[in-house]
Order: sequence, then structure tokens, then C-alpha cells
Amino acid sequence: MTYDTTESSVRLRQYTLEDCTIHEANPDAPDDRFNFFGFPVPGRLRRLVESGEVFPKPGDVHGRLAIEADGDYIGGVSWHPEHYGPIQAPAINFGITLLPKARGKGYGTEAQRLLVAYLFATTTVFRIEAATDVENIAEQRALEKAGLLREGVLRGSHYREGTYNDMVIYAITRADFEAARKAASAAKVTTGFSASR
Ligand SMILES: CC(C)(COP(=O)(O)OP(=O)(O)OC[C@H]1O[C@@H](n2cnc3c(N)ncnc32)[C@H](O)[C@@H]1OP(=O)(O)O)[C@@H](O)C(=O)NCCC(=O)NCCS
Repeated sequence: MTYDTTESSVRLRQYTLEDCTIHEANPDAPDDRFNFFGFPVPGRLRRLVESGEVFPKPGDVHGRLAIEADGDYIGGVSWHPEHYGPIQAPAINFGITLLPKARGKGYGTEAQRLLVAYLFATTTVFRIEAATDVENIAEQRALEKAGLLREGVLRGSHYREGTYNDMVIYAITRADFEAARKAASAAKVTTGFSASR
């Protein structure tokens, strides 16, 4: 596993009004199983961009960013604090949605890998987590490939399509992340060459 992302066509960036136009042209559809929880509020993203509320500040434990692949807007990631005790030291829980046409091309894996690196670089949290429906195999694989560890099942935690469903919880700690980064850079030093040579 590596967090070296310089050759990727995927990047995270702030939202633009052009993204809102694409987002509005691709509304969540009722047959999109893991992505429809009722009709969304029209124009919500545009209002967040216009007001500036959408833009996370460095250190924010909540926020959202747009995902771009090969220069095109393809979806977004968002995150919020998850509190596990009385002391103010939250974890971050994140989510992701890609436009249907952008799925199954490796972009979701890469975007989540980038988000983990971004959040460890710009916030002080120790734990980053994401949960997904037990039937959402694409997201489970993407989270595993992005370096998160499957920790367990949250029974009946998720209401979707009129019923309670189990979710799988994944997480990566700052210690896991640093260890993976060290291992990746040690491997580069040991081999002594890169693919570009
Ligand atoms: C879930 C999501 C972010 C995954 O991103 P993606 O770019 O489509 O996934 P990737 O192309 O990176 O593929 C990741 C893995 O899932 C597998 N996969 C992709 N689509 C799949 C599908 N429909 N069914 C089963 N596996 C699938 C891929 O083969 C890959 O696994 P592999 O390396 O073992 O082959 C994206 O599909 C999406 O936005 N879905 C709708 C919203 C959603 O479910 N969000 C998460 C809610 S918690």
C-alpha cells in the first residue's frame, strides 16, 4: 500500500458553481440502492457554495470536497466528527458519492485514499472511519484498498429502503497511516530506482 499519489488522475478540491450544475443534472435516483435516502433538497449544494459554507477550513473536523478525475467533476466526499467520550477528541467519519457514470473505474478507491491523507495532514484527529451497508461490496473493497481496516458489524444501524440494515465499520488510525507511509518510503529506498528511470 502507498499514499504516494502524484501519478493519479484523481484529485480532491474545493467545490465550484460548475460542479453544482453537474450535480443538479444528476439527482439521486430512487433505484440507486446505496445512494438514495429520499429526494434531496433542491439547490442545497449550490447554496452552500454560494454562501461559502461548503469550504472547509484547515483543521475542520467537518467539511466536504469535490472529486475530480482527468479534469472532470465526478462526485464528492464529506466528513463529520464522531465523538467517543467526554473529552473533546473526536474521530472523523467520512462518506463518498460518485456520479453513476464514474463508478467502477478505481476513482472511489483513490479519492478515499486521498481523503485519508488529506485529513491526517490537515486535522489533529487520531482515527478516521467510514461505515457502509453490508451489501455495499464496492464500498467495502474501496475502503480496504484505501488502507482502512474492517473492524466489525454494526447490527441494524442503517435505515434504507424501508428497513434496518447492518453496516460494516472500517477505520484507520494515525499510527496505522504513519506505519504504512514509512513502509512505503522504506521500500522505495531499498529498491533504489523508480519506474520513471
Ligand atoms: C462506493 C463507491 C464510492 C466505490 O467507488 P468506485 O470508484 O465505484 O469503486 P472502485 O472502482 O474503486 O472499485 C473498488 C472495488 O469495488 C469493486 N466494485 C466496483 N463496483 C462494484 C459493484 N457494483 N459490485 C461489486 N464490486 C464492485 C471493484 O471491482 C473494486 O474491487 P477489486 O479491486 O477487488 O476489483 C462508488 O461506487 C459510489 O459512489 N457508489 C454509490 C454511493 C455509495 O455507495 N457510497 C458509499 C456509501 S457508504
